Amino acid sequence: MLHVKSLTQAHDGRVVLQLDHWQVAAGRSCCITGPSGSGKTTLLDLLCALRRPASGDILVEGVNVARLSGRAADRWRGSTVGVVTQTPHLLEILTVQENVMLAARMARVAVDGARAASLLDRLGVSALASRPAGRLSQGQRQRVVLARALLCRPRLLLADEPTAHLDDAACAQLCSLMLESCREVGATLLVATHDRRIEPLFDQRLSLPAPENAT
Ligand SMILES: Nc1ncnc2c1ncn2[C@@H]1O[C@H](COP(=O)(O)OP(=O)(O)O)[C@@H](O)[C@H]1O
Ligand SMILES: [Mg+2]
Repeated sequence: MLHVKSLTQAHDGRVVLQLDHWQVAAGRSCCITGPSGSGKTTLLDLLCALRRPASGDILVEGVNVARLSGRAADRWRGSTVGVVTQTPHLLEILTVQENVMLAARMARVAVDGARAASLLDRLGVSALASRPAGRLSQGQRQRVVLARALLCRPRLLLADEPTAHLDDAACAQLCSLMLESCREVGATLLVATHDRRIEPLFDQRLSLPAPENAT
């Protein structure tokens, strides 16, 4: 499903990520660990074609994402990738349901209201569907962000430090929801984290080394 070969990324002439070979099968999960500055977020940005690498290939179901840019990258991302961020950004004045549907509109994908409702139900937040997003707890917001990420049936779900701000209960709940949702549809789950609580939950692990100039 995912096959990364000879990948490097550099900023200001400094190599910030080097990954010779990495594979994750469809429907499997992998956590990406490593100290701060080791390139976890950089790697996720490359995987969803937000940036192009300095060199190397990123094959996602046969598409070389490392070669995509502009509108082709936007189209591919909209149809293939769901993203869960560390800080769950929602539009505060829109309702939960509106926030979930907005992602599909932005990606120019047909909006499936029934699927949005069923995802909110599945993630235990259907009672909040018509509540403004500004009135949710952090754990509730994360689940709404997950529903939004899953709406367009992504083949790849990416999460960057999704549990950093969550207590143990909300952390365990969010992880099992991400793992179960991906397993159900055969999507691949990649989670960048330095949260020791969640590392054992994944099928495999990619450990990025500390940056060379770290003190
Ligand atoms: N847009 C950028 N411009 C310059 N340097 C960057 C940029 N993005 C990331 N970096 C650098 O790349 C390295 C890896 O950062 P990052 O991917 O955020 O690591 P992590 O997520 O593991 O903490 C860091 O040294 C960071 O300063
Ligand atoms: Mg990061």
